[in-house]
Amino acid sequence: MTKTITITGAGGQIGYAMLFRIAAGDMLGSDEHVRLRLLEIPQGMGAAEGAALELQDGAFALLDGVEVTDDPAVAFDGANIALLVGARPRGPGMERGDLLAANGGIFGPQGRAIAAHAASDVRVAVVGNPANTNALIASSAADGVPAEQFTALTRLDENRARAQLAQALHTPVGAVRRVPIWGNHSATQFPDISHATLDGEPVAERLAAAFGDVRAWQEQTFIPRVAKRGAEIIEVRGSSSVASAASAAIDHVRDWVHGTDDWTSAGVVSHGEYGVPEGLICSFPVRAVDGTWRIVDGLELDDWARARVDASVTELVEEREAVRALGLI
Ligand code: NAD
Ligand code: LMR
Repeated sequence: MTKTITITGAGGQIGYAMLFRIAAGDMLGSDEHVRLRLLEIPQGMGAAEGAALELQDGAFALLDGVEVTDDPAVAFDGANIALLVGARPRGPGMERGDLLAANGGIFGPQGRAIAAHAASDVRVAVVGNPANTNALIASSAADGVPAEQFTALTRLDENRARAQLAQALHTPVGAVRRVPIWGNHSATQFPDISHATLDGEPVAERLAAAFGDVRAWQEQTFIPRVAKRGAEIIEVRGSSSVASAASAAIDHVRDWVHGTDDWTSAGVVSHGEYGVPEGLICSFPVRAVDGTWRIVDGLELDDWARARVDASVTELVEEREAVRALGLI
């Protein structure tokens, strides 16, 4: 049966980078037909309509239809997957949290439209920043839709972390696994290498051989590089990441639907796991099993790691308070 995929902000940069890959089957697989619903605001309709024409010209065998609309009720009608991308990106010198006031107001109405019109199995992935708290806003507004169906993208951070670790170990990135992101998609995030493996073997000894004091390397090099990569991209290319973000969003949904054979990372609702306050959308090490994200349990966090997780979670709590004060939840 054809799956309905709604992409908000489809006329924007990330939208353009993801549409053609989704139509080609990179997200749901080469035997799954898709129908795309592109949601834009009136100013973005031309760009989205242009993308729809190009999708038609791509003659994608799996693409059963494309609809462009500025009406959320139409866009989310029957949606099985909703990629909430549409939001303003930050510019140089900004933190993602600075976008809360500008972008937060987008996600309540979209959450309500999802509750009213989407399929009961809808899976929502929020990309628009600040992604974790926007996902919380959307979920809070979506009466009747389980909070587990709302997620925030932190897979880009994990992909960056694996890539940086692979570079440090002079190894192909595909061999590096178990580098989860804890916390917020922000500069406070904690990319955790304490369980990382290379071809299934722990990397601790190789890192010690390469860097001596591995903790110092993490604090001074690895963590800042990963956590501030978004800002680095903005500085180097003049605007925020696009193709890597689109690719990570596709990875996130593909794994959610098809399952994982190891850990990955996603912003998912907390039920109190690892002491994270209930209801926050926090990034954890996760597996996808039977179409559901499951937080990896039983991991040891030493005092140093605990403090890093706590710092990022504190920021999530502050963001939740800020959107509460703005009347967004
Ligand atoms: P962009 O400005 O190129 O595109 C955003 C699009 O959203 C525009 O076309 C705009 O018209 C549309 N839009 C705005 N409000 C909308 C609404 N209410 N409904 C539907 N569409 C709406 O920006 P971009 O580069 O595509 O980035 C989009 C968002 O993704 C930004 O907030 C950015 O910070 C974020 N982002 C997140 C990650 C992540 O890993 N979570 C990575 C990269 C970018
Ligand atoms: C990223 O991580 O690249 C995005 O969240 C964009 C940004 O503002 O950093």
